[in-house]
Amino acid sequence: MFTNVKMSDLDSMASNAADVLSQVREAMIEPHPRKLAPTFNSAAIAELCNVDKSKIKYLTLKHELPQGTKSEGSKAKEYSLEETITWVKNIGTYPKRPEHKEGRVVAVCNYKGGVAKTSTTVSIAQAATLRGLKVLILDCDGQGTATQLCGISPEQDVDVEDTIMPYIYGDQPNLWYAIQQTYWHNMFVIPASSGLLSAEFVLPAKAMEQRGFKFWEVLKDGIEPLRKEFDLILIDTSPSLSHLTVNSMIAADGLIMPCPPDALDFASSVQFWGIFSELTDSLPDAKDKVYDFITVVYTKVQNNEISRLVKTWMSQAYGSCVNGIEIPESTAARTASAQLKTIYDLSRPDGSVEAYKRYKEPLDKLADFVVDQLALAWRN
Ligand SMILES: Nc1ncnc2c1ncn2[C@@H]1O[C@H](COP(=O)(O)OP(=O)(O)O)[C@@H](O)[C@H]1O
Ligand SMILES: [Mg+2]
Repeated sequence: MFTNVKMSDLDSMASNAADVLSQVREAMIEPHPRKLAPTFNSAAIAELCNVDKSKIKYLTLKHELPQGTKSEGSKAKEYSLEETITWVKNIGTYPKRPEHKEGRVVAVCNYKGGVAKTSTTVSIAQAATLRGLKVLILDCDGQGTATQLCGISPEQDVDVEDTIMPYIYGDQPNLWYAIQQTYWHNMFVIPASSGLLSAEFVLPAKAMEQRGFKFWEVLKDGIEPLRKEFDLILIDTSPSLSHLTVNSMIAADGLIMPCPPDALDFASSVQFWGIFSELTDSLPDAKDKVYDFITVVYTKVQNNEISRLVKTWMSQAYGSCVNGIEIPESTAARTASAQLKTIYDLSRPDGSVEAYKRYKEPLDKLADFVVDQLALAWRN
């Protein structure tokens, strides 16, 4: 029993406990397996390039494009992600960024957690690379779920120096230093960790210290030089209208709001737009901002009466901002995320083919929508 405990006993107990904990950690933390990109077959490449499979065969024979490899015991060829992207770039019909044009920034936002912001962000990023684009994900949520989906563990692999924080503190001129490659060809990430929470103190403190400091344009300025390198910069935001979320929305050229057609989620989304527009009204410059697009996407859609009813409210409330894409509530989504994956990480259905297609098709449509918006912006 612990009675009559001296401070020196407490010291030794604390240091003993710390030793035990570190031994437990060592034993428990296995080196986490590196995430691997999927492979593709010629049918998948044909679909991505919008050509007949026989054309892929014919072009393969000409030996001008990546040849893929035959795995043991199989007749069919498999192509790596990088090879697939090379095919898409050569014979696909997706828009390309003209040399003199800059990349566009899209923020994915919603007041609430669990509405599929992060799954949507990373899925669009992956789908955009499969349409030939070079993509950066900027993780602005301290929980680091997008970072995790990029194959980097926010707790184990990310120091605060690796995040946007050094730039927010003013120690870096822009965000170049923080860009990391991922396991997925042409998808890069600026990771997040819980250290991002301090942005909520640093930004208002700077605004108090420096007259005229535009706390809402910090991220926009840090991203600016990166637009030359990336075609699409996607920002995943936290479930709040924090300083970082406002910064993300001001930095963006386009906004995507994933929202399940559920009465409470709808009510919260209305509140979100209300607060954001009130806030931007009081910020010089921000109120004159013009977005390429703002779109509300139905996510986690259930096949029932309530969901259909709320969809009618939402389409009345948001009019043409609702783009009609519906991402269903899906076991395929849950199965993928249980393995820290998105649907694009799975080369083939892990479960029902129907469920896989029903979930992936609207995500593909959403990616096409985003790519079309980029093409429009590059044309102007
Ligand atoms: N279409 C879907 N069907 C079923 N579960 C989904 C779907 N989309 C996302 N989820 C699950 O919902 C949870 C929250 O998703 P996430 O993308 O992290 O949302 P947020 O970033 O808005 O918090 C995750 O566990 C994810 O697997
Ligand atoms: Mg999230």
